[in-house]
Amino acid sequence: MPAAYKIHEHTFDMVVVGAGGAGLRATFGLAQKGLKTACITKVFPTRSHTVAAQGGVAAALANMGEDSWRYHFFDTVKGSDWLGDQDAIEYMCKEAIPAIIELEHYGVPFSRTEDGKIYQRPFGGMTTKFGEGPPAQRTCAAADRTGHAILHTLYQQSLAHDAQFFIEYFALDLIMDADGACRGVLALDLSTGELHLFRAQGTVLATGGYGRAYFSATSAHTCTGDGGGMVLRAGLAMQDMEFVQFHPTGIYGAGCLITEGVRGEGGILRNSNGERFMERYAPSVKDLAPRDMVSRSMTIEIREGRGVGEHKDHILLDLTHLGPEVIHEKLPGIAESARIFAGVDVEKEPIPVIPTVHYNMGGIPTNYHGEVVQLRNGNPDEVVPGLFAIGEAACVSVHGANRLGSNSLLDLVVFGRAVANRAAEIVKPNGAQQPLAGDACDEALARLDKLRNSNGGTPTAVIRDKMQRTMQADAAVFRTGETLSDGVRKIREIHASFADVKVTDRSLVWNSDLIETYELSNLLGQALATIVSAENRTESRGAHAREDFPDRDDTNWLKHTLCSVSEDGTTSIDYRPVHMYTLTSDVDVVPPKKRVY
Ligand code: FUM
Repeated sequence: MPAAYKIHEHTFDMVVVGAGGAGLRATFGLAQKGLKTACITKVFPTRSHTVAAQGGVAAALANMGEDSWRYHFFDTVKGSDWLGDQDAIEYMCKEAIPAIIELEHYGVPFSRTEDGKIYQRPFGGMTTKFGEGPPAQRTCAAADRTGHAILHTLYQQSLAHDAQFFIEYFALDLIMDADGACRGVLALDLSTGELHLFRAQGTVLATGGYGRAYFSATSAHTCTGDGGGMVLRAGLAMQDMEFVQFHPTGIYGAGCLITEGVRGEGGILRNSNGERFMERYAPSVKDLAPRDMVSRSMTIEIREGRGVGEHKDHILLDLTHLGPEVIHEKLPGIAESARIFAGVDVEKEPIPVIPTVHYNMGGIPTNYHGEVVQLRNGNPDEVVPGLFAIGEAACVSVHGANRLGSNSLLDLVVFGRAVANRAAEIVKPNGAQQPLAGDACDEALARLDKLRNSNGGTPTAVIRDKMQRTMQADAAVFRTGETLSDGVRKIREIHASFADVKVTDRSLVWNSDLIETYELSNLLGQALATIVSAENRTESRGAHAREDFPDRDDTNWLKHTLCSVSEDGTTSIDYRPVHMYTLTSDVDVVPPKKRVY
């Protein structure tokens, strides 16, 4: 081990990595259960990407019309194109109701109906009567700043419950023992450059998605999938990485999100003829079809010459008919974003939009308790002791091949809460830590030393730019065998070029050059897993639309992909079965059928 590195050691019952919605819900839940809990985060908690979530959080509260968690369950299974695990989906949709009422009691300032209930708006793919009834008003909103409202409340609750925060600490690597159990995490204090080992009975990865593997994403620049990167380095597999969600309405050019809540409030997508084209693609739900369908429909309109603008390469989102009152009360944030990033007054002009990378359905495989699982010795659900994952970093899998809008904030709070409940059952407060080998941190330290002293010929930003452009072009809304195999070849080369990376700053204090290099390495592994898994899956399902295999193929592909990536870029693929069973007899399994809206 490089002798120069001194390590401060901490001991906690649980350590949470990440302070977005999932991380904070877990942090305060764990502390509330009497467990000594640390939360380490690379950005200040209220700057986490959850702050950008706009439209709302789904729960069948039935405040604004008929609804049932069973309808929500059905919609989520259908939305997932049957790749979601139905036991986990039942858990999420049922638990949504108490989890959101709790949030209200913790202080989330939801918008209100006339009679004081939580305001709920329609969102894509959310229906009533098992898809036969009208759209459900199921998405609980705090105007169009719901993530902001939730994040601040959860941080306040975490502080109130005496969780300990380590802010602007970057997690470098998991500390795994010889038996494959996770014993904690090694992190760098960005401001002092000192190293900290967090030993814990349980480590929870709540590090978010890896949207920044792409060139244009609604995700913050901090969304670099640091948990997934650490998991791959620990030799564990990621699940369903081929499923990347494109949000239909990112602002053209800037990529910022314009919430689906706009369409929930009555906004309409129009092509260059002024036509409401979604009527042709999804006659019953129109602009409120699920995101994969809307993104594909927009792409087809553009390809067939009905895009707008000088290059006919985008679409218009029209909300001019909604009137100032609805815009001021329900959509003030997007009015501001449209003005700043598109130079548009939404009361008078439509917003130029384009499908933009928004969410990773794939991630670290877990069960519905948030415990990380792997395929081992023929058991597809073997728990990795001491390791948990939640939120966008995880793949439970409740979203399957396509997530419904407003099921993400829900996933964060439901599974953040589930981890706390699980830990309360299996972790002993102030319990003894498992012994750690003297060389437990050596590999992580050697990697740190190597990256910090990297003296190759290619700056981090150059490799990152190539990766992002390749992913954008070759793992797009529509894919073909040709673009994918070309993309795999290029991403393999780009991954290999990391061996030639150049880090200029050798210090450890606020070394953003080094941290961006770690982030790039985290992204590269996941970019490779994404494109390799996409090339491998020879069918179309949810967000994975292959023009050479246009149909869903349940005979061969009703299964989760597992992909591992070793440091040298070798990839291997395996599979886990989809859970086609429910948790209880409260609801029936939804058997696969054609997915039409
Ligand atoms: O459109 C939105 O407000 C995004 C919501 C989501 O991704 O769940």
